[in-house]
Order: sequence, then structure tokens, then C-alpha cells
Amino acid sequence: MKYFIGNWKMFGVPKSINILNKINYFYSKDKNRKKYRVIVTPPYTLIETYSKYFKKKNIFIGSQNCYQKDLFSSDTAAVSPYMLKRVGAKYTLVGHSDNRKEGDTNEMLKDKVKYALKNNLKVVFCIGENEKEKKNNKTSFILKNQITKVLEKNFNSNNIIVAYEPIWSIGTGKIPTKLDLEKTVLKIKKVLKEIFKKKSPTVLYGGSVDGKNVKIFKEINAIDGFLIGGASKSSKKFIDIIKNYYR
Ligand code: 13P
Repeated sequence: MKYFIGNWKMFGVPKSINILNKINYFYSKDKNRKKYRVIVTPPYTLIETYSKYFKKKNIFIGSQNCYQKDLFSSDTAAVSPYMLKRVGAKYTLVGHSDNRKEGDTNEMLKDKVKYALKNNLKVVFCIGENEKEKKNNKTSFILKNQITKVLEKNFNSNNIIVAYEPIWSIGTGKIPTKLDLEKTVLKIKKVLKEIFKKKSPTVLYGGSVDGKNVKIFKEINAIDGFLIGGASKSSKKFIDIIKNYYR
């Protein structure tokens, strides 16, 4: 199963559902649809309406983040995995570099993953090195650290997807070379296999994915799908990525 996940970030109002309607229509007619799943993470404000609307349709709705506590608390503006589950979210991103930059620590991320899984949300755990770390050949070390400091062997690995998003690639148009990316994804899978003793962990790539470069990425078998930012805000661009992946 491949994944095409659209992360809307700070984008969208109720009527932006039109974008998803077009993607849903494309999916319903696509002969390859059994091979992949479409997930979109709109902002918190839209999760409930979109989840209800797509309940019996083809698009899964997720959250871009969740708070590191279960149930309710007195933390202003925080939204727990329990609350997300009850408005229909099926997935949540955890550890996006935007949130790490704002102060998410490994300890916080571990609790986010733990409570998300407890509330039956599937977790898309994001990791990635910055430009300096890449230049200093620290990529493997950083990624391994990000994974092993957060993911525990007793977590349900069937409900965890890892998204590799090099920070220097997000929103820049820059992408890793095919060789680098393949090596990195295989290394990530090796680390995950060591933790979970699971045969085939799911690892996605994210960072400036578009309808053109997806043709390069599709040659890398180890990549199980994509986490798409900018291009997910346009139905045409998002559909082009899927079309060109299977062309
Ligand atoms: P872009 O596709 O805009 O580079 O964003 C990637 C991303 O951060 C998705 O989470």
C-alpha cells in the first residue's frame, strides 16, 4: 500500500473542501486506487466537518499535530489525541519540523505518539536533518537519534508510519539525489526493523514533492509514499503527483 498524504499546514476554510472533492472524484475513477490511500491533514478547525463529509468516501482525515497528554487538561489551546479521535481524525502527524522548531522535545514527542496510539490514531512520525547536519555528514546519526529517542519497541508498529522530511528540502524546491534518498530510506527502515522486529516498516518521503520529481522518486522502491505540503493545496497538483507516480 502506498500513501499520498497532503499536509495543508495553515491553509483552508470550510469551502476548501472543494479541493478534496475533486481528489475524491479522481480517486473514485482511478484504476490504480486499490494500490494507495489518500490522507489529508487540514488545520484543527476543519477536522470535524471534513471527517464527517468524507466518512463514507475515499479520503482519510488526519491532524497536523496533537498534544502530549491524554483526555483533557488545563493547557490553553492544546488539543489531545482523545479529542481528535472524537471528531473523526484517523491519523496524526507527530514531530513535524515546524513543531520541533517551536520546541517539541523527544520527550514530548514520545508522549504524543503514546497517547495518539492509545486513542487509536495512526501516527505519521516525521524526522529529518537540517542543512548544516547534512553538510557535516550527520544525516544518519541525526535520523537514528530522532527515531530511537522517541519510538519504543512496545509501541504498536502497525500504526506507525515514518515520514522522512529533510528540513532543507521543505518548501525550497530542493530534493535529495536519488542515491542519497534511497540509502537514507533503507537506513531508516533498518533502524525501525531493529526496534520493532517488523519485516516491512512504512517510510514516506516529504519535501518539495511535485508532479515532475515524483517520476524520480517512484524509481526508489523503498519509498512507500509521500508527505506533500505546497502541492496538496491544489487538487490538480495533488492529482498530478498520483497520476505521474503510476504512469
Ligand atoms: P512541501 O511539499 O511544501 O515542501 O512541504 C513538505 C512538508 O513539510 C509536508 O509536511
